Parts: sequence; C-alpha cells; structure tokens
Amino acid sequence: MPYVAPASSTYSPAAPLQIPPLSDPSPVRLSLVIPTYNEASSIGSLVRQLCAHLDTILPGAYELIVVDDNSPDHTAKLAQELQEEFPQLRVICRQRERGLATAVVRGWQAACGEVLGVMDGDLQHPPEIILKLWPLIQKGADLAVGSRYAESGGVSHWSLGRRIVSRGAQWIGLVLLPGVFSRVSDPLSGLFLVRRQCIAGIPLNPKGYKLLIEVLARGRVRTIAEVGYIFQERQNGESKIQLQTCLQYLHHLIYLRFSLGQVGSFLRFSTVGLSGTLVDMALLYVLHDPTNLGWDLITSKLVASEVAILNNFLWNDLWTFRHVTRLQPGPLNRLQRLAKFNVICLIGLVLNTSLVILLSERLGIHYLLANLIAIGIVVFWNFYLNSKLSWRSVEVKPNSVGGKS
Ligand code: GDD
Ligand code: MN
Repeated sequence: MPYVAPASSTYSPAAPLQIPPLSDPSPVRLSLVIPTYNEASSIGSLVRQLCAHLDTILPGAYELIVVDDNSPDHTAKLAQELQEEFPQLRVICRQRERGLATAVVRGWQAACGEVLGVMDGDLQHPPEIILKLWPLIQKGADLAVGSRYAESGGVSHWSLGRRIVSRGAQWIGLVLLPGVFSRVSDPLSGLFLVRRQCIAGIPLNPKGYKLLIEVLARGRVRTIAEVGYIFQERQNGESKIQLQTCLQYLHHLIYLRFSLGQVGSFLRFSTVGLSGTLVDMALLYVLHDPTNLGWDLITSKLVASEVAILNNFLWNDLWTFRHVTRLQPGPLNRLQRLAKFNVICLIGLVLNTSLVILLSERLGIHYLLANLIAIGIVVFWNFYLNSKLSWRSVEVKPNSVGGKS
C-alpha cells in the first residue's frame, strides 16, 4: 500500500484542518498541492510539465505534493514512482479521509512553503499558468487566482446547460455570501496560490470541492490578483462531481453563512424580497383579474412591479442595509441609491415581464404561477447588481469579508 507520511507531525486524519505557521526557515517558497482521485492517466504528464516550468522560475525552491485518496487506479503508486526523477515531489495517500477540499488542506498542513497552492490533477488547469500566477504573489498579492471569468479566461466546449449550472452556483453563492463571492470573478476556481500567513492558525472546515471560498471567507486575505485561463476539456479519466458534490456545496455555503455571523442581514434581505413578492402578486391580481379591474397583463404587471420595487427599496434602505446606509445619511444619498436601485430593477422588470409573457402566453402557465417563477429568477439579477452598485457605495474593508450582505 503506498503511503508516505507527511513530514509535518501535525497530520493525522483526526487532527483539525488547520495550517501551522512556518516554524523552520525552508528553502521551499512554493508548495503546490495536486489533489487526485483516479488520475493515473494524467499525473505523469502534469508533474513533468509543472517541474519543467517551475524549474525556470523557482529552481530548488518549490515542492509538489500529490494528495491521493487511495485511488483504485493506483495514482499514488505512479506518483511515487516519479519521485526518483523528481525529488521535489511528495506523495500523501489518504486511507480514511475523502474529498477534494480536505485533501488540499492536508497537503498544505504537510507543506514547507511560505506560499501554498492548488492545481487539479487532470490537466484541466493548464500547467503553464503557474508562470503567470507566481509573479502575482511576488508582486505582493496575498492570493493569486486562476479565473475562467477574467480577461482571456474561459471554458472550452461547455454546453449551455453546464454554463448555466456553473453560473447559477455562483449566483447562489453571491446571494448567500456577497462579501465572499464579490471579491473575485471566479470564486469556484480550484486553481490558486495563497500566502501561508493568511490562513495559518485558522481552523478551516471546507465541505466538498470549493476550498477558495473557505480561504476567502475565513482567511486574512487583503490583496487579490487574478489571471484568466481557459479551463481545458478533460482528455482522460472523468470528473468526480456528483449530486452529492452539489449538496455539499450548498451545505458549505449555508455553514459559512452561519459561521460568519451575517445571517441577520441575509434573512432581512429575503424577508424584504418576500414582502415585495406579495405586494407584486396582490396588486397584479387586483389590476389584471377579470373579477377586479381587468387591465391588460403588461400594464398590470408593470404597475405591480414598480410598486413592489419602491416597497423593496424602502425596506432595504431603512432595514436590510442599514449598516451601510447609516454611513451615508441624507436625502441626496438616499435618492442616488433609489435611482440606481430603480434603474437596475427596471431592467430586471423588462426581463421579468418578458418572462411572464413567455411563460403564460407561450407556454400556457397560469399567469400567477408564471409571475412567481419570473420573480424568482429576476431576484438573482437584482441582488447581484444592487449589491455591487446600490449598497456598495461604502467600500468593504479589504479584510472584513462577509461584511456587506
Ligand atoms: N484527493 C482527492 N479526493 N482528489 C479529488 C477528489 C477527492 O475526493 N475529488 C476530486 N479530486 C481531484 C480530481 O482527481 C482532480 O484532480 C481535481 O480534484 C478536480 O476534480 P474534478 O472531478 O476533475 O473536478 P471538475 O473538473 O469538475 O472541477 C474542477 O475545476 C473547477 C474549475 O476550476 C474542480 O477543481 C473545481 O474545484 C474547480 O473550480
Ligand atoms: Mn476536472
């Protein structure tokens, strides 16, 4: 059974997921962890390419740490065989623990570098991107993220459905954890470098796949730099994402929401949203229903939504975001926020109205149900832009993540 115990004595599957501070000075500056599960077909090529690149920028000053979960395809054994040629490669084979994010943390716990990093083991992250990430750290960034949504980034041949799921996951995160998700363009990225000092000594508790949000939420990350990269198609093996991974993601978001102590403002935002929905629905019924005023659907919907927008603005300004608005008092400021809020929501309203028409007149869904669905979708749009524009007038302190929900 291949097993190389990490050099650090802190590692044990029962030990808390916490990165120790650097105790002894080490020649290693960068420790790059590669989590693997059944990546026998890629690991050799990845290690070879990474070492070739890193030898040019960090000769003798980096280590690669493969953390494998005892893959049945013997990835760990293969990686160990590479150690003779690449002594800077270390291999951890976990016997009991499972999961991508914890694998990375376990690798970091064993690491000697002052900068810790992660890259997928299946070549979907192009290895040469390390040549762009490292200089960002050298220039002083606390965190350097490989992003699919930054300039020159992207995904290769994703179907529309997959893109929507990926963006949808990001939007849910933005609603639940705006202070975390608005800090980077690709918070779900699994490709980044972070200074050890930003996370050392902080208990981490990631669930499932997404370690970056954990680092952003709990770490002392001040400066962030990004570099775009194209997420490559998988050439070998298969993705390990399952339904369980998606549920773990939601669990992780909710868990973080609670542990960051910002539940209050999120609940306020949801309550306001609900009150707006009720105003919108009730008014639409009064205006459009043939037993009431019997106006046409478009006019009724526009009036109902504008009243709901005003209702939501007042509650959000006076209550939900009062910690932000308190610092920007005065009618002029409020008017500015209202103007921004209204413009964003009006664009949302066009989207909303189009959706109601599409759903009710084209697809034959009852207009009230159609309205409910449309509101549900447009809420994400409104929240995203408003949290970025209307109530962002007061900048969040760089290290006070989660403070702007
Ligand atoms: N040790 C270990 N244990 N490794 C794992 C596990 C696990 O339970 N699950 C997955 N991995 C490894 C895979 O072998 C691969 O090297 C890497 O983690 C990513 O897993 P994939 O299953 O290939 O994920 P993906 O391609 O769908 O998504 C990846 O790319 C996203 C976009 O950047 C993930 O890395 C995401 O975190 C990333 O955001
Ligand atoms: Mn992958």
